[in-house]
Amino acid sequence: MDSLKYEPVIGNSPPPYEVEAYGHNARPWANRRLKRACSLSRFIALILISTILYLCLVLERQVSLQYSAEDASAALLLQRFDDSLRLCAARNHLPPQVSPETREGNPRWNSVRGQNETIALRNATLFDGESFLSTPVDIVFSKGQVQSVSPSSAAESILDSGIEYDLKGRFVTPGVVDMHSHHLVESWPALLATGTDGNEMDPVFGPLTPFLRITESLKAYDQAARIIASGGVTSSLIIPGSANTMGGEGTVVKNLMKPGELGEYVVEEMLLEHGIARSDRHRYMKFACGENPKRVYSHTRMALAYILRRHLTRARELMDKQEAWCYTASGLHNTAERARFVDDKGGYPEQLELESTIALIRGQVLMHNHCYEPQDFETMLGVMHEFGVRVRAFHHAIEAWQVPEMLKAYGDNVTIATFAEDALYKHEAYNPSLYAGAILDAHGLPVAYKSDHAGESTDAKYVMSQAATGHAFHLPADKALQSVTSIPAKALDLDFRIGYVRKGYDADIVVWDSHPLSVGATPQQVFIDGVPTLDSKIVYESTGYSMETSSERPDSPEPIMRLRKSQKESGEFCALAKRKSQSFVISGIRKSFLDHYSDVAASVSVSGNDNLTLVVERGEISCLGMAEACHREVTAVGNNAINIALQNGHVLPGLTAVTDTLGIKEIYMEPATGNGAADVKDVKNPSYVDYAKYGVFLDGKAFSRARLGGVTRAVTAPDLSTVDDEPAGFLRGVSVGIKTSGTKTILDGGIFQGDVGLHVSIGEANKGTGSVSMAVKTLREILAENTGKGNESAYGLVADGKLPLIIQVERAAYTQQVVSIKRDFPGVNIVIYGGHGVPSVAKELAAANISVILSATRPGPGAWETKDSLIGPPLTRSPASILSEAGVRYAISVAADVPVSDSRIHALAIEAAWTAKYAGLSEHDAVRLVSKNVEDILGLKPNKDMVLWENNPLQLGASVVLSFEETADGKLEVGTCWPDDVGLTSD
Ligand SMILES: *[C@@H]1O[C@H](CO)[C@@H](O)[C@H](O)[C@H]1NC(C)=O
Ligand SMILES: *[C@@H]1O[C@H](CO)[C@@H](O)[C@H](O)[C@H]1NC(C)=O
Repeated sequence: MDSLKYEPVIGNSPPPYEVEAYGHNARPWANRRLKRACSLSRFIALILISTILYLCLVLERQVSLQYSAEDASAALLLQRFDDSLRLCAARNHLPPQVSPETREGNPRWNSVRGQNETIALRNATLFDGESFLSTPVDIVFSKGQVQSVSPSSAAESILDSGIEYDLKGRFVTPGVVDMHSHHLVESWPALLATGTDGNEMDPVFGPLTPFLRITESLKAYDQAARIIASGGVTSSLIIPGSANTMGGEGTVVKNLMKPGELGEYVVEEMLLEHGIARSDRHRYMKFACGENPKRVYSHTRMALAYILRRHLTRARELMDKQEAWCYTASGLHNTAERARFVDDKGGYPEQLELESTIALIRGQVLMHNHCYEPQDFETMLGVMHEFGVRVRAFHHAIEAWQVPEMLKAYGDNVTIATFAEDALYKHEAYNPSLYAGAILDAHGLPVAYKSDHAGESTDAKYVMSQAATGHAFHLPADKALQSVTSIPAKALDLDFRIGYVRKGYDADIVVWDSHPLSVGATPQQVFIDGVPTLDSKIVYESTGYSMETSSERPDSPEPIMRLRKSQKESGEFCALAKRKSQSFVISGIRKSFLDHYSDVAASVSVSGNDNLTLVVERGEISCLGMAEACHREVTAVGNNAINIALQNGHVLPGLTAVTDTLGIKEIYMEPATGNGAADVKDVKNPSYVDYAKYGVFLDGKAFSRARLGGVTRAVTAPDLSTVDDEPAGFLRGVSVGIKTSGTKTILDGGIFQGDVGLHVSIGEANKGTGSVSMAVKTLREILAENTGKGNESAYGLVADGKLPLIIQVERAAYTQQVVSIKRDFPGVNIVIYGGHGVPSVAKELAAANISVILSATRPGPGAWETKDSLIGPPLTRSPASILSEAGVRYAISVAADVPVSDSRIHALAIEAAWTAKYAGLSEHDAVRLVSKNVEDILGLKPNKDMVLWENNPLQLGASVVLSFEETADGKLEVGTCWPDDVGLTSD
């Protein structure tokens, strides 16, 4: 073990960081042995070498050199021969295979800041990396390594010394392994100085930069690591960005900050393989194909493949030379021959530029490939196989679900590291399936969920929630948990250390507050190398529980999967259901969360476990109540009604989403799919105000996801204007209210409200067209100039309080500007959208009667203006809990930051449940966060749509059976019927 020594550099001793790099010294002439052999200082050695080289040049072949042991030049040549021979011996060296059972300790452990007391987690419900163990267990770990996992003992104590925690059956998993992250590279908050270290885009290098090492871009001070760890993510593969076909080497880190003996921000100490000789460490190469390298280098796909093939050919040529050199050298036994050989041919043939690529061909570097589309998988597999390289993983791989058998046919057992739901933001992400994980798994491919952490919408803290979503969409529970633990660990060849809680593994262990596949599962403690990383006081304060308090494990329902109907079954049923004037008798409803049918639903409780019946008679609700109470109405509809017997029915209002792109831009990265951005020449002239209602469309894949989530209406503003592809601009325009059923057009009721509110941005989003101060000033002037004039322009209506003014604002200081505007213009109905900064201004917002549509429900400090965000449990209280406490009226949305997409719109109720969990809201209030509150805040026409669910939509795995949607004449008709994911039904 050559763990780093921190001795000061004294005299001529080598600098401590110049330990052998990646298995051999890249500069043999400067190596330590040489210096020792010559007993000369480096300086003298250099002079000698130069002299020899000079002599060699001058005397080349003219002087018959006498190679003798006394001759310094001969000694050097022989030294070089020996060094080269060692390189030959090491050239196919692989990291040693160690079995967990026989590992001698965790190499990262140190006595200063390492785990210093043995810990026993008693009575744990353990998912051990493969499956849930059938009985509760006691887990004992010390010095960062698991000592034992055994059936839970009844004994008072099981340790001679150390700390024991009674988990009372709480759920425990291995630390989550995220096999695709960019934190520590693009540190939070991202700025020009730090956000640009992940993609080398120098045109001189071009799309091939395999010689880069991500470790040299890492910043050990990135607080994202602490945030990520608080979500249970203990190890992450950090890789370069995807601009280049070969982007450089990645590395695996533990998300433990300052873990080393010095307690300082040292990159080396964060590496998972810290404490292991560099020659024995694992190596990973980041590849990318498809749109990114195409865009950056203006190449075609075929050109990128050629450039890669040409590079691999060069690497193989050099590799052949290495083989030839080693072959000849191994046959040379006398010193004269050896010296002559080196003098003639030089040493072991090497090129820095090709070293990592040769190592890839030799199988020492594992290939991890950002790649989305089927033809790109084919190309990469094909090219790599020409050079005998196995593809270990395709990352993102949104379309892999379409070609599982092709992927299998190549025989690489390639891991698909993908997103559970993030999609639609670019063309190669436009054929997703929410069932992708399940489909790939059913075909026998390993599936991993990963973050792509860089921005807030890919916050690695929440990787576990992707496994939960994957499970709801039919990935079996054990596989879903494997997808974020042992499967990524295997794809990294590190499954002897991480990904499991078993004897001999690193003590990376997460104690959860609820079933890890349930909505909003949050760690109560995260051990990394056995070190607890969460402060139990803060955990208690932010979640209401902590591992250390004696409270029982909170109740947590067993996660379920969505119900699915065959296309035939749902087709027949839905054809009937959609008949005009069809009547329905629906029984088995356990809960109703309707707000708008108080007349018919007077007797309905929402306590659960009711058995309600809903009668819809020719487009009107005639009864909602206990079966006996609806007897008359059931009889009235007679035999013509469709009877639907639900098991665990739930009735909700149609939900209303506030979105960024729905119906205005289908694919964020493809301008042709959108309405375009307004060309605003004079922002104060109301003629330049854009109206979404004139450019909106009512179809697309995000609409189908909306239907899946019981979202029947959406509010959409005109597209963000753009500057350099970034959203920009103060004035966005007037939003429109649209229906998502897909059965309406803009001519027959698809628009339920033409003008919803005027949207403007204050902060980063407005800077593309000026300063923040100018935006505030302009807004004030617009209000002042239009107040009380009774004019009917958007500005006049806003100034007179007849149209909401929806201000996207994130930073607390700018949020205070909004409060100040409201104080000066009290008649204006101001709504804040976004809201990273609202918690610290909550009291003022409540006092000023400013409502909030919070999209920052689980914020990350990804940008400067959001750097003070409340991260949420288990590190802080949640933003919503602060708003609730202060009495701010708020609703939520699931808008994502750049690249914007509405691919999570189906999870609106889930996000509401998550928000409610830590804001102490009832289930009904959770539903209101995405229904009635939105209507009240934006002054929308009440949503009388009604959605029937099987199972509770506030938990994962519920499915929409039917939506009844309000028609122009106030009746109800079936809008959506057994919606399922578009990915599977499109062909
Ligand atoms: C272990 O380390 C923690 C944190 O540095 C310290 O508070 C504790 O006292 C140490 N325990 C022992 C037994 O040294
Ligand atoms: C483990 O915890 C559960 C839940 O609190 C309890 O019912 C059970 O008796 C405990 N088992 C042991 C061995 O302590």
